[in-house]
Amino acid sequence: MELSGKTALVTGASRGIGAAIARRLADAGAHVAVNYAGSRDAAQALVAEIAATGGKAFAVQADVGTLDGIRSMLNACDAAFGGAPNLDILVNNAGVGGEGDAGSLKKCSEELFDRMIAVNQKAPHFITQYCLDRLRDKGRIVNIGSLGGRSALPPFAAYAATKRALQSLTMSTAVVVAPRGITCNLVAPGAVDTEFNSALLEKPGWAEGTAKLTPMKRLGVPEDIAGAVMMLVRDEAHWVTGQIVEASGGLFL
Ligand SMILES: NC(=O)c1ccc[n+]([C@@H]2O[C@H](COP(=O)([O-])OP(=O)(O)OC[C@H]3O[C@@H](n4cnc5c(N)ncnc54)[C@H](OP(=O)(O)O)[C@@H]3O)[C@@H](O)[C@H]2O)c1
Repeated sequence: MELSGKTALVTGASRGIGAAIARRLADAGAHVAVNYAGSRDAAQALVAEIAATGGKAFAVQADVGTLDGIRSMLNACDAAFGGAPNLDILVNNAGVGGEGDAGSLKKCSEELFDRMIAVNQKAPHFITQYCLDRLRDKGRIVNIGSLGGRSALPPFAAYAATKRALQSLTMSTAVVVAPRGITCNLVAPGAVDTEFNSALLEKPGWAEGTAKLTPMKRLGVPEDIAGAVMMLVRDEAHWVTGQIVEASGGLFL
């Protein structure tokens, strides 16, 4: 139980990649805050699943796209974890994209653009800011970016720009927290089979075509991304900071 006695907050952990990360952290012994926005039943089911295997977790509802939501989420974490410093691992995972190509350069609406900025870019900035005093020395921050943050992706232009911004935040944060032995890295998933891609997964041939483009010849699954996060939270990774780690099966190499 290498994370025994440690605490962790995973945003957007009710489903998909965040749920897999929360599960792995709890399996390793961490006490995990499972944040969700709307999927209450899924978040509570995950907490129950973790408890059934002897782990510790609690669900915390908050829309991290607002500062009020972020503050209420962190107040709930303080209540469960105790007074600051009280956090060892922060995973900024919550993210939104558009349905299909709704976030493309040609079609993106102002409403969707602002929503993606709020959840994908503003939230990690302010959650990290508010967690600076909450994080214990030698803590870990992992931001979940996207392969889209480094590539030209016109159908997802607005989304990709938020993930590029997250790369920048990761590097600035790494410099700020380094004197305390805290690391900050970004894991950039490739194409992963989650509800995030439901519109694309329904398109005939998309999954097969994307798997063919991927050197490892399949779509990712949430556990693939959780594995990369676990690699970065381990003690052995204490000298790795400010880095972008692609977990993509080699897509777009
Ligand atoms: N799937 C991919 O192919 C892929 C590729 C690259 C990067 N990513 C990134 O990986 C991360 C997770 O993606 P995923 O595929 O797991 O997505 P997903 O299956 O759509 O799940 C998204 C999660 O984020 C939560 N969430 C959304 N808006 C939120 C908000 N305002 N406040 C709090 N939680 C919120 C959702 O909670 P509720 O259900 O409660 O609303 C859900 O738990 C995202 O940052 C995404 O950009 C995904």
